[in-house]
Amino acid sequence: MKKQRALFATKIGVIAASVGSAIGLGNIWRFPFEAGIHGGGAFLLVYIIVVVLIGIPLICSEFVIGRASRTNVLGAFRKLQKNGQRWHWISFVGILSSLMILSFYSVVAGWTLEYTFASLLGNLQGGTVEDYQEYFTTFTTGNLRPVMWTVIFLLMNYLILRRGLKDGIEKLSNIMTPMLFVILIVFAVSSLMMPGAKAGIEFLFNPDFSKITPSVFLGAMGQAFFSLSLGVSTLITYASYFQKDVPLVRTASIIAGLDTIFAVIAGLIIFPALFSFNMEPTAGPKLVFEVLPYIFSQTSGGQFWATAFFFLLFLVSITSTISMSEISIAFFTEEWKMSREKASLLNTGIAMVFGVLCALSFGLISDFKILGQTIFDFFNNTTANYMMPFCGIFFSIFAGWLMDKKLLRDQLTNEGSLKIYTYRAIVFCMRYVAPIGILGVFFYQLA
Ligand code: PHE
Repeated sequence: MKKQRALFATKIGVIAASVGSAIGLGNIWRFPFEAGIHGGGAFLLVYIIVVVLIGIPLICSEFVIGRASRTNVLGAFRKLQKNGQRWHWISFVGILSSLMILSFYSVVAGWTLEYTFASLLGNLQGGTVEDYQEYFTTFTTGNLRPVMWTVIFLLMNYLILRRGLKDGIEKLSNIMTPMLFVILIVFAVSSLMMPGAKAGIEFLFNPDFSKITPSVFLGAMGQAFFSLSLGVSTLITYASYFQKDVPLVRTASIIAGLDTIFAVIAGLIIFPALFSFNMEPTAGPKLVFEVLPYIFSQTSGGQFWATAFFFLLFLVSITSTISMSEISIAFFTEEWKMSREKASLLNTGIAMVFGVLCALSFGLISDFKILGQTIFDFFNNTTANYMMPFCGIFFSIFAGWLMDKKLLRDQLTNEGSLKIYTYRAIVFCMRYVAPIGILGVFFYQLA
């Protein structure tokens, strides 16, 4: 007899786990630095447009494909495509990107561990901005500690993965995300009260239209995919565990809304403080790790808040890495018939090799460049800006055009039991707006 697949126990568990996947370093670390590079308000504006027009329909597409098939990503396409079609090959791009993301993501998650301990030990107290900049550089170029934390992080991820879906993921997500939210608000308030903070608010909310260039579009689209966990089939895999009565469109909108709120609050922490001490917003991946410690040291009870913050950031990172690992694990167990334990081990092993390389790309092998970028930057940019949107095109076309129409309708309306006033709009976006929009951004970039 075939073993029943596990399902998420509750509707709130579904939302919590998907939100747990979405919210992570993408919001708190990646959003501010991408927004900083791409002109602040202009970026935020384009970002929100992309989330609504491309993000939500794509979440729905992945949900539909996952729940209609109830299997791993490769199996999902095999099951839903018409006889003789070969769309399932695209799932390998998704699996590959999930492993690439896991590799570099674990490096940054490792940084959060370093910073948790540094805060706890009081090493991040009372310095100037320059001190914190130096701390970051010394740490990341030091090779040994970044590698150690990457490995430790991946081992922890492995231990949770081995325990399977329900107890691991659901419980963790239910608690961490609200806690992080509270702490973010505390810091946003603290940052907004710094002298000169107004310039930061303006930078984030007052779009300078002359700054809207092709690279702003590409960056914003990549950020939306990354932050919403789109285009790697995480959401296909998660939706394969959803119960029948989960309202997909509403869940998708909640995820997109919450995720965007977290990113904006992270921006409200970083930019006011940044402008308050005259730093450049264009520092890239190191931005948050240089600015935050300074904000903490300016907040009363800063050491406690900083420790709690970095620890929570580590925890929400792990709910995201679990979700990206689940893609290859579902694939290894269901297609290659591996045990969950072996599949988790393989996933961890691959990520460890590339994760260590990414960690070293700030120090030892910083001169090794792929297309002019360090390994870390290459993994980060290629996955978010190209591989994820590429898969996104196919996921939306597949759900909108290629899948059985009745199945699509049944999934979106829960077999007609939900009245979705936006049904047509969602399907329209799946069919036209999302794929054409993504292609448009690619071509705009090329031209
Ligand atoms: N969305 C996650 C974040 O913002 C990252 C992620 C990407 C998770 C892809 C799963 C798949 O941190």
